[in-house]
Amino acid sequence: MLIYVNKISPMIYEKILRPLLFLFTDPESIHRWVIKALGIVSRQKPLYNLLHNFLSSTDPRLATRLGSLELKNPVGLAAGFDKYLEAPRAYPMLGFGFAELGSITYSEQAGNPRPRLWRLPKDKGLIIFYGLANAGAKKTAELFSQIKGHPTPYGISLAPTNGLKVEKMVEDYVKSLLELHQYADYITLNVGCPNVASCTTFTQIYFIEELLGAVDKTLKDHHIKKDVFIKIGPDYTRDELSQIIAICLAHHITGVIATNLIKNRDAIKFKSSAVELSHPGGISGLTLQRQSDTIIKQLYQESQGRLKIIGVGGIFTAEDAYRKIRLGASAVQIITGFIYGGPFIVKKINDGLIKLLERDGYKNIAEAVGKDAPVASGEPT
Ligand SMILES: Cc1cc2nc3c(=O)[nH]c(=O)nc-3n(C[C@H](O)[C@H](O)[C@H](O)COP(=O)(O)O)c2cc1C
Repeated sequence: MLIYVNKISPMIYEKILRPLLFLFTDPESIHRWVIKALGIVSRQKPLYNLLHNFLSSTDPRLATRLGSLELKNPVGLAAGFDKYLEAPRAYPMLGFGFAELGSITYSEQAGNPRPRLWRLPKDKGLIIFYGLANAGAKKTAELFSQIKGHPTPYGISLAPTNGLKVEKMVEDYVKSLLELHQYADYITLNVGCPNVASCTTFTQIYFIEELLGAVDKTLKDHHIKKDVFIKIGPDYTRDELSQIIAICLAHHITGVIATNLIKNRDAIKFKSSAVELSHPGGISGLTLQRQSDTIIKQLYQESQGRLKIIGVGGIFTAEDAYRKIRLGASAVQIITGFIYGGPFIVKKINDGLIKLLERDGYKNIAEAVGKDAPVASGEPT
C-alpha cells in the first residue's frame, strides 16, 4: 500500500490527472474546483482519516520550531492557495505541517478582473494577478470561528485594502490583526504582493518600519501574545534587505517569510515565450528559487539566526526544501510545487528530508538549519 502512495499515486497525478486539469484553459476555475473538492473530501471523516494516515509524516526528526509554534514537520502551505478558508481541514489531511490562509484585507474586495492567473509550464511557474481578492477580515473571522480544532497550526496573512493612503494602510493591517488574531496560531504581515497599485507603498522600507511599530504597540496594548512574521518580496537589494533585517530585529517579530512573487522580471532568463509572458502580475515557481535562496541566506547570516525564517519560492523537491533549510530556513512553504506536483508532494518532500538528514548525519531539522550560511561571529541565539 505504501508503495502505491509513494510511487504510483504521484505518477497517476503527473501523467494523467494534471494533464487533464491543465487542459482547461482558465487555471483559476480549476484552482477553485480543486479547493471545493478538497473541502468536500476533507469533511468526510473516513476519507480524512485514510488520507491523513497515508500522507502525514510523524517522524520526530522532522519536528521544528518557529518561535512558540511547534510544527510536526517543516512543510507548510503558502498564502494564496486558500483565500476564502474553503478547505482548512484539507491541509493537515494532505500532511502539511502548517498552513497559511489569506491574504486578507480589512475590507472585502473582488480583486482584479479575470483572467488573472496563467501557467508558465516551461518555467514551472505561474503568473498571478489576483490583486488580493478576499472576503475581508470580518467575514474571514466568522469562517475561522467555524473551524473546529486546529489539527495543524494555521497562520493568517494580512495585507492592506486597496486604494488607501499610507496612514490608513497601517490602520487597515491593525484592524485586521485585532479582528483575526484570536483564531490564528500566527500572523503574517504581507508586505510583498506585487499585484495592487498600493504595493509601491507597502513594500517600501519606511512603510515596513511604521507598520512594525504600530503592530508592536497593538500587541502590547491588547496583551496579545502571538508570533508575527513579515513576508517580503524578492526584489530588494542587499542593502535594502539589511535595513529590513535591522527593523525586524528592533521590533516584536518572530521572523521573515522569504519570499513573495517576483515583480521585476528584467534580470530573469525565462524559457517561456514572449506571448506566454505577456500577462501582468507576479511570478512564482522555479524562476524565483535562486532569489529566494539568496535572501534566506542573508536573513540568516545578518540576523545571526535570531529571525526565524520560513523559506518559500520554487520548492518542488526535498532537495529544494533542504537547500533552503541549510541556508537558514527553519520551515518552508510551497504553493506552485503543490499545484504542479499534486497532493502527494508534501509526503514526498518529508520522506526525502529524512533521507537527507540521515545522509548528512543530522539528528533533526534544527541541526541542519543554517549549515550553509555560517554566521560571522558567535553562534545563533
Ligand atoms: C495563485 C497564487 C496566489 C497567491 N496569493 C498570495 C497571497 O494572497 N498572499 C501572499 O502573501 N502570497 C501569495 N502568493 C505567493 C505565494 O504565497 C508564494 O510566496 C510564492 O508563490 C512563491 O512560492 P512558490 O514558488 O512555491 O509558488 C500567491 C501565489 C500563488 C501561486
